Amino acid sequence: MDRFGFVIHPFVAKTSRSVAGCRESFDDIISRSGGEFMPKARLPYTLCSFERVRSREGLAISGVCAAVPLMPIEFDSLDREVALGFVEQAITLLAKKGARIVGLGGFTSIAADEGTALSKKLGVPLTSGNTLTAALALEGIYRAVYELDMSLLNATAAIVGATGDIGSACARALSKNVKKLNIAARNDKRLESLALELRRGKAAVETFRYAKDAIHGADIVISAASALNTVINPVHLKPGAIVCDVALPANIGRELARARDDILVFDGGLAEIHHPEDVRNGRFGASVHSNSVFGCLAETMALTFEGRFEPYSAGRGRITEEKMAQIKAIAKKHGIMLADFSCGEKRFTAADIKRIRENALKARNECYYVDSR
Ligand SMILES: NC(=O)c1ccc[n+]([C@@H]2O[C@H](COP(=O)([O-])OP(=O)(O)OC[C@H]3O[C@@H](n4cnc5c(N)ncnc54)[C@H](OP(=O)(O)O)[C@@H]3O)[C@@H](O)[C@H]2O)c1
Repeated sequence: MDRFGFVIHPFVAKTSRSVAGCRESFDDIISRSGGEFMPKARLPYTLCSFERVRSREGLAISGVCAAVPLMPIEFDSLDREVALGFVEQAITLLAKKGARIVGLGGFTSIAADEGTALSKKLGVPLTSGNTLTAALALEGIYRAVYELDMSLLNATAAIVGATGDIGSACARALSKNVKKLNIAARNDKRLESLALELRRGKAAVETFRYAKDAIHGADIVISAASALNTVINPVHLKPGAIVCDVALPANIGRELARARDDILVFDGGLAEIHHPEDVRNGRFGASVHSNSVFGCLAETMALTFEGRFEPYSAGRGRITEEKMAQIKAIAKKHGIMLADFSCGEKRFTAADIKRIRENALKARNECYYVDSR
């Protein structure tokens, strides 16, 4: 049976115990090391394994997941080589356990510069999973636009974290379909260079440094900023807006977002696999009540089912629409599809969506939008 590996890290100290059901949680490890929150006291370790994951085609694969015991803030603040060393150790661990391809979850792919150099160095095909994640984010937006009776062609869309791997793929696709595209990121040079490229498309493109300015007046928002804290406050969102938050940790607070009943904020890039019970012990922070897995894990599984042990998503800014269509087709063949809409612990029912649609339509018509910048 072909085996995949997946590297993940905690987003909060209790993540692994409360959600993934693993044998040892990060807070246990920290308390064992005398409460000392030092990375050197911790090592990557096997978090959980999946003995038999079945596809719609009747194929079966197995998987093993390793945890890098670093929080997002540590990935951000540690010396790059130190963080990379952790990721390298985790990949080596998984390769020893028979993984033929390794997916890099969360900040592990960002630390490894989306995997290119490490893949060559270790001789293990690595994928960030960002191609399927971006494709699912876009599919979620198209479905939400339909569900909320919105016109894509007349819409203003905003991409937060637009120069990133996922953000730029979404920006390229949306620039062909929407009326106006607001793109936001902090590095001006990279942002202007992306804007230049996007202006060849249909949409009018405007650049922003701050998320709150970019989302002002936007009907659609895709948020994919690798920020440590939230960067979008729901009060700044246009009435009736649709927000797909792909980022981990989240770019928009889920509790706050759910307080507004006229907007649809959903966790982006999530997939549902054909037999969700096969991975029930390892959903790593996806909603406990949903059957979803992260797009990066879903891509790794899809490639393993297909026998494509290759660095499918490697490097930044290389995701094309052709590759998104291809990985979606591979995933679909094996029963991996866009997950139902959820927002944190909340999984939306058809009745929830109907209620949000009615509130959104009412709010858009009333035009009570107040400029709160
Ligand atoms: N849901 C899933 O299944 C899934 C799968 C993979 C990845 N992800 C998550 O998706 C996000 C993006 O991943 P990626 O690989 O595309 O990352 P990336 O290539 O490193 O891009 C990150 C983007 O965010 C911007 N950014 C970084 N820090 C920011 C801040 N504090 N405020 C505003 N913008 C900021 C960056 O530009 P500047 O530095 O110029 O601001 C860049 O545009 C991450 O949070 C990652 O964990 C989710």
